[in-house]
Amino acid sequence: MGTPLEVEVLKGIDFRVERGEFVAIVGQSGSGKSTLLNILGALDQPTSGLVSIDGVDISTLDSNGLADLRNDKIGFVFQFHHLLAEFTCLENALMPIFISKGQASSEDEARVKALLERVGVGHIAAKKANQISGGQQQRVAIIRALSQQPSLVLADEPTGNLDSKSSKDVFRLMREMTKEQGVTFMMVTHDDRLAQQADRIFRIEDGLITVSEGSS
Ligand SMILES: Nc1ncnc2c1ncn2[C@@H]1O[C@H](COP(=O)(O)OP(=O)(O)OP(=O)(O)O)[C@@H](O)[C@H]1O
Ligand SMILES: [Mg+2]
Repeated sequence: MGTPLEVEVLKGIDFRVERGEFVAIVGQSGSGKSTLLNILGALDQPTSGLVSIDGVDISTLDSNGLADLRNDKIGFVFQFHHLLAEFTCLENALMPIFISKGQASSEDEARVKALLERVGVGHIAAKKANQISGGQQQRVAIIRALSQQPSLVLADEPTGNLDSKSSKDVFRLMREMTKEQGVTFMMVTHDDRLAQQADRIFRIEDGLITVSEGSS
């Protein structure tokens, strides 16, 4: 095959996000929102430039260091949620804890169950992930991202396929976590009304980011 296709998506972007800040990322389809999240979460490497998280330049980390960073410090909510079908909702939500500690303590279970309840899926915690609706799966995936009490949550349209009530519940929970636990959220959304409720809005256009303040 020929040389790989090179697509320049992001150019000369430079920003800093504070702990406990809530940032909405908006932009047209194909503008580079997922690319940006993947770079911030060390799932993709930038061809040039530097990403530093909690003061650590992530390009200096080896593969173990990166795996620890992704599992312990960063919560991901992907555009497609990827729950494990054979596990229950509670087990799926606890998965990052199983991965880092081998097992979940009773406190971990109680805390994660309470989070599932806050987004309206506590009652199906014991069901297998393939026996619940798409919107319920999405909410479990969001709690999975929060279960390790990460410092940074990268969420790619977390409310994309939720009805307006669930989407409000999820958004409220994310807002409360930023306040209660100082979690930093960076959330891609196509919903302008949700974006306006962020502290700042990053709009990606032609590879560049324009920053504005939210209105609430
Ligand atoms: N694997 C790939 N190979 C080549 N080009 C890619 C690849 N993935 C994405 N792109 C291109 O990079 C650009 C940015 O894609 P990205 O997925 O970041 O967009 P997005 O803003 O998240 O879009 P959407 O809102 O549709 O999810 C697009 O022009 C896309 O076509
Ligand atoms: Mg995308």
